[in-house]
Amino acid sequence: MSPEKVHIFDTTLRDGEQVPGCKLNREEKLLIARQLELLGVDVIEAGFPVSSPGDFAAVAAIAAQTREATVCALSRAVENDIITAAEALKAARYPRIHTGIGTSESHIRFKLCSTPDQVLERAVAAVRLAKSFVEDVEFYAEDAGRTDNEFLARVCEAAIRAGATVLNIPDTTGYCLPAEYGAKIKYLIDNVRGMERVRLSTHCHNDLGMATANSIAGVLGGARQVECTINGVGERAGNTALEEAVMVLRQHPYLNFSTGINTQLLAETSAMVSHLMSMPVQANKAIVGANAFAHSSGIHQDGVIKHRATYEIIDPREVGMPDSSIVLTARSGRAALAYRLQKIGYDFDRVALNKAYSSFLVLADCQKEVIDTDLHQLVEQAQLVTTS
Ligand code: KIV
Ligand code: ZN
Repeated sequence: MSPEKVHIFDTTLRDGEQVPGCKLNREEKLLIARQLELLGVDVIEAGFPVSSPGDFAAVAAIAAQTREATVCALSRAVENDIITAAEALKAARYPRIHTGIGTSESHIRFKLCSTPDQVLERAVAAVRLAKSFVEDVEFYAEDAGRTDNEFLARVCEAAIRAGATVLNIPDTTGYCLPAEYGAKIKYLIDNVRGMERVRLSTHCHNDLGMATANSIAGVLGGARQVECTINGVGERAGNTALEEAVMVLRQHPYLNFSTGINTQLLAETSAMVSHLMSMPVQANKAIVGANAFAHSSGIHQDGVIKHRATYEIIDPREVGMPDSSIVLTARSGRAALAYRLQKIGYDFDRVALNKAYSSFLVLADCQKEVIDTDLHQLVEQAQLVTTS
C-alpha cells in the first residue's frame, strides 16, 4: 500500500512572525517564502492581510511569486478581514482563505461576549463569504483543544455545508494531551457528516512542550494536514516545529505516511529563518540544533564510533546537517580520543595512547571542550610518537 500524504502547512510567516522581536520585512518574507517552496511545503500561510498595509503587501507579493504551493491568508470571521484577504491573494495561482472564530467557552463568553448559536452563525457566514472569492477555504475553530466535542462537531459540520475544504482544529493554548487531541480528531471524523469531503488539520501550540506529539497524535487520529513553523517559532512557547513533525513521520515508515518535504534542505531553512528573525536555535533543538548530532560522553562516543546507529536514529546528512561530531570533554573515553587523534593524523599504540589520555584528562578538566589545536599541543608537549 502506498503511503498516505500528510500535507505540510507552514505558518512561519504568520503565526511564527507573531513573536516579539521577529518582525520580517517584505524582502525577508519573500526570501523565506521562496525557500519554503523549495523545501516542498504544500501551503504557505503568508500573513494576516488586514492587520497592516505592510502585511497586505507581503501577502500580495508572495501570492504573485509562488507557483507551486498554495498561498494562504488569515482572516477573522469578519467581513472586512475576508474581503482584504481575498484582495491580497488575487495574484495567487492556488489561493486559500483561512477564516474562523473561537469556539471554546472562554472565547465565546469572555472574548467574543457572544453565544454558541451566534458563533455558529458567524462561522457559516465567514466561510460562505470566503467561498464567494476562492474555491479553497480553510475554517479554524480557535481554541478547539478546549472546546466541547459536541459543539465543535456542530460547528465543523456547518462549516463543511457552507463550503469549507479544510477544517483546522487548533490547540491554541497548547493544553491538550496527545491522546486527548488524537481522540478529538477521531471523534470529529466519526461524528461529523461530510467529513470525507474535507481535510482535517492539526495546529498545535507548544505551551507544555507537546506540540509535535499532539500533531502526530492528530495525524494518527485521521488529520492529513499539519500546521507548523520552521524551528517551532510562534506565539509564547511556539508552534509545532516543521522539521520535527516531518522527521517523526519519515523515521517511522511503518506508519505509512509521506510528506512532500525535501528533508536535506531542513538545516539551511532553519538557519535562514533563525538568522532573518534574529531568533537563535537552541543547541539541543531536535533535528536542527548544533548538538543534535554531537556526542560527548565516553559511552556514547564508543558506541557511535563502532556503529553510528547505536546512538543516532537519523543520518545527519538526511536533514542537511554536517556529519555527526565526537566532542572531546572530560567525559570522553580513550576510544573517542584515539578516533579524534587519528582524524588529525596521529596513530598511537596502546602505551602512547594511555599517556596521551592522562594528559588529555588533565586538560579536559580545565576547559569545556578539547579542540584539535589543543590535541596538537598535547602531542607535542608529551613528546608522543606515532606508530606509522
Ligand atoms: O492558534 C490558533 O488558534 C491560530 C488560529 C488563528 C488558526 O493561530
Ligand atoms: Zn496558532
